[in-house]
Amino acid sequence: MDNHFTSVTSMRRLNNGVEIPCVGYGTFRTPESVAKQSVMDAIELGYRHIDTAAVYENEVGVGQGIAASGVAREELFVTSKLWNTERGYEKTKAAFQATLDRLKLDYLDLYLIHWPANEKQFGQDAEKLNAETWRAMEDLYNEGRIRAIGVSNFLPHHIKALMKTAKIKPMVDQIEVHPGWPQTEAVQWLQEQDILVEGWGPLGGQGAKVLVNDTMKEIAKAHGKSTAQVALRWELQQGVLPLPKSVHRERSAQNMEIFDFALSESEMQMIQALPNLGGQCAKPDEVDF
Ligand SMILES: NC(=O)c1ccc[n+]([C@@H]2O[C@H](COP(=O)([O-])OP(=O)(O)OC[C@H]3O[C@@H](n4cnc5c(N)ncnc54)[C@H](OP(=O)(O)O)[C@@H]3O)[C@@H](O)[C@H]2O)c1
Repeated sequence: MDNHFTSVTSMRRLNNGVEIPCVGYGTFRTPESVAKQSVMDAIELGYRHIDTAAVYENEVGVGQGIAASGVAREELFVTSKLWNTERGYEKTKAAFQATLDRLKLDYLDLYLIHWPANEKQFGQDAEKLNAETWRAMEDLYNEGRIRAIGVSNFLPHHIKALMKTAKIKPMVDQIEVHPGWPQTEAVQWLQEQDILVEGWGPLGGQGAKVLVNDTMKEIAKAHGKSTAQVALRWELQQGVLPLPKSVHRERSAQNMEIFDFALSESEMQMIQALPNLGGQCAKPDEVDF
């Protein structure tokens, strides 16, 4: 699946017809002070899809990097996310405008609800809060201010609840996916719904054991690749859109070189079967932020 991709700018199509580059450049934990330079580097290397969020507190730098890159706005795909404190109809609209102001952009390609409101924190109001937030996202989309809208960290049951009142089905769900945390059932269900799965933490994030795991190393050696490249290729081959992050130019370059090899079916399964290797392994119904 998806082996026809030839570079990070090969396009996938969202369920509303909008095209999205098949690998994105992540910016979580990228400090505001280096965001401009690392985004400029990433764009110079060839990334055209940039993923940020209000809570990363680097949207100003990311926007400066975009502006300084010299690449036309319409050639870039820019995503940001609504933080948890800003849920609700009016607050979502205001938070969206604040994100645009910080990025110095006049539209976003993709805007995501960062996390579902959960029952642990909001009891029976959780579902209504998600519905109200989504209604604002739909209005912003219908006004032409966002080319695609979606969610993040929503499990299938959150989306099913959202769809009771939603007029528009999310185009994307961005969830944690990496070796040791494959989220197989959620990925399959989302793909059946034609909701594109973006995989956050594709390398396991900071401090995980994904990149030093023996099975990963063995497979990497067999292909003359790094374990990071194998992790990214594994996502790509199962139809998940990876969002690797690095503030190091050489690593960002390495993370793009995943189109000149393919994992066999048995290698895919070996990775799928790896035990938990760390990472955030986030459980959206249990978080308290
Ligand atoms: N929606 C959500 O809730 C959510 C949550 C987390 C992340 N995200 C998004 O997903 C993106 C990726 O997730 P992430 O940043 O948590 O983790 P990640 O991309 O899995 O891993 C990033 C870590 O791996 C290192 N790294 C990158 N490339 C490497 C390579 N080739 N070899 C060795 N180490 C390498 C980075 O270090 P250096 O930077 O020092 O090179 C950094 O410590 C984020 O940046 C963000 O855009 C979304």
